[in-house]
Amino acid sequence: MLVDGYGRNVNYLRISVTERCNFRCQYCMPEKPFSWVPRENLLSFEDLFLFIKVGIDEGINKIRITGGEPLLRADLDTFIKMISDYRSDIDLALTTNGFLLKQCAQKLKDAGLKRVNISLDSLKPEIAMKIAQKDVFKHVMAGIDEAQRVGLGVKINTVPLKGINSGEVLDLLEFAKSRGMSIRFIEYMENKHAKDKLQGLKAEEIQAIIAQKYPFKAVGRVGSSPAHLFELEDGYRFGIIDPHKHDFCEDCNRIRLTAEGMLIPCLYFDEAMSIKESVQKGDIQGATEVLKTVLKNKPEKNKWSEDNENETSERAFYETGG
Ligand code: 5AD
Ligand code: SF4
Repeated sequence: MLVDGYGRNVNYLRISVTERCNFRCQYCMPEKPFSWVPRENLLSFEDLFLFIKVGIDEGINKIRITGGEPLLRADLDTFIKMISDYRSDIDLALTTNGFLLKQCAQKLKDAGLKRVNISLDSLKPEIAMKIAQKDVFKHVMAGIDEAQRVGLGVKINTVPLKGINSGEVLDLLEFAKSRGMSIRFIEYMENKHAKDKLQGLKAEEIQAIIAQKYPFKAVGRVGSSPAHLFELEDGYRFGIIDPHKHDFCEDCNRIRLTAEGMLIPCLYFDEAMSIKESVQKGDIQGATEVLKTVLKNKPEKNKWSEDNENETSERAFYETGG
C-alpha cells in the first residue's frame, strides 16, 4: 500500500503518453506549443510499463491513460494489453478527445481497456469548432457511438465557458442521459497557456441552470473522485468538478506521470522527479525510491484556493494529463 505524508492511500496513477494534441482547445492548448517534446525524449511503452509494474506491485490498482491526446501515440492498444495482461483487475481507463476513437475503440476494448472519458463541450458543430479550433464534432460523435457500441464505459467531460457553450449545459446533460452516460461539468481552471479572458461557469452557476428544469439533490463525492455528484428525481446522476474548492484534496488518491517520465505528486504543484534514469536502466529499486520520495512530497492541497482567486498554473494541462 502506498501512503503519502498526510496519511492518504495513493492507488491511482494517471499516465500521459504524449503532450501532443490534434485539437487546440481554447482552455488548454490554444496554439501549437513553441516546440513539442522531441519524440526521442518520450519514454517507450516498455520503460513506462516497468514503472507501472513497480506501481502495481506497491498498490496501484487504477490507471488512466491521458495526454495531450493519447490516441496520437501509435500502438496504444499494445501498451494497454501489456498492463491488462499483467493484472487484469486493474481499473484501466482512457481520457480522449474522441476524434480518433471510431477507428480504434474495438482494438482498445479487446486489449483490455474498460472505460473512456470523452471531452464534449458542445452539441453544435460550430461551437465545438470554436472551442477546439477545428471541425471536430462529427468525428467526436462517431467516436462516442463506437465506444458505446463496443461496450466501453463512456463518461462525458464538459468545460462550460461563459458566452461560448454555457447555454448548452441542459442540452449536454440531456444528451448524456439519453445515451446512458454520466456527464461531469468541469470548472475552467485558470492556466497561463489558455486563451486570455476565458471565464468558466462556476459550480453554483451550473447547478442553478440545471435546477431551473430539473430538481436534484446533492449526493456528495463518492470515494476519492473529485466530482460532486447530484441526483435528478429519476435517479440520473451528474457530476461537477470544482478545483477551486479543493475539498477533494483531503482524500486525493492520485499521482501523475508525464510522457517524459516526470512523476508529479499533484496536478498543481511544481515539484516532480524523473523516473527516466531508473527505468531505462531497469533499476526497479531506483524506480521504487523515486515513487516513495514523490509520495512523501505530495502536498496537502492544490493551489486553486478560494482565497487565492488569481492563482494560475504554470504547468500546461496537456503536459500533466489533466
Ligand atoms: N480547465 C478545466 N478542464 C480542463 N481540461 C483541460 N484543460 C482544462 C482547463 N483549463 C479538461 C477537459 C478535457 C480534459 C482532458 O481535461 O475537460 O476534457
Ligand atoms: Fe487536446 Fe484535450 Fe487539451 Fe483539448 S483539452 S487541446 S483535446 S489535450
